[in-house]
Amino acid sequence: MDSAHPAPPAPLGLVAALRQELRELLELMPGAQRRIIGNREFWLGELEGHAVVAVQSRVGKVAAAATTATLIAHYGVGAVVLTGIAGALAPGVAVGDVVVSSELLQHDLDGSPFFPRWEVPLTGVSRFPADAALVERAAAAARAALADPLALFGAQTVQAFGLHAPTVHTGLIVSGDRFVRTRQDSDTLRQALPDALAVEMEGAAIAQVCHEWGLPFVAIRAISDRADDDAHADFSRFLREVCARYGAAVVRRLLADAPPPAGARSPAF
Ligand code: ADE
Repeated sequence: MDSAHPAPPAPLGLVAALRQELRELLELMPGAQRRIIGNREFWLGELEGHAVVAVQSRVGKVAAAATTATLIAHYGVGAVVLTGIAGALAPGVAVGDVVVSSELLQHDLDGSPFFPRWEVPLTGVSRFPADAALVERAAAAARAALADPLALFGAQTVQAFGLHAPTVHTGLIVSGDRFVRTRQDSDTLRQALPDALAVEMEGAAIAQVCHEWGLPFVAIRAISDRADDDAHADFSRFLREVCARYGAAVVRRLLADAPPPAGARSPAF
């Protein structure tokens, strides 16, 4: 590429595990080009003036890692943002709050005695840090997007889900290949990892792939349940009725507040 014809800006990768988590985002990208690669649906389009590639990873760490590697290798994204929902672990985190990952860990990974518990073998890393600048921008975008819950969700949903004043938290998100659906299971996780704010099934796997490729990453999760005996019912209701609104509102705000793309690689991502 010469300076007269600079390379187009690297798109931002947007990942969600489930179609419901991606639905409203895709509605904001009406002209997006759909392509299937490696059994995943990718949409290349534009959002708030930025090139983006959205993809549904499906559920679990392997599905998320495979999707992310394809996203990076085929589309050359400059950064990856994961949106969707998670179960709360920390006592101060409520249904309807948002957790932005400052770091991510695979809670079900244990290569001991050869490697310390939770360490990804041969990387020396247990906790993959999210990109600090992206974390700050994501948290600011989430706070701005949630500033007026009545306008965002409508009175009926605010009432039904208790979304009167959703809080944005930043901290550790843990990921594993199981849906945490008993109080006993979440108590065990809380004891082992007292600083974990939320649990889900993809984030730390995506963080690991982004780490290997040297790309900035952040996860932005709305809390659907408390990872307890009611988790299954709470998760299903939240997924059906509210989660799509969160992802679209926060990501839209994140992109709207990012500097406009210019030059060879977007300074925004
Ligand atoms: N995603 C949303 N809620 C969850 C839970 N309780 N366990 C794992 N992943 C989740």
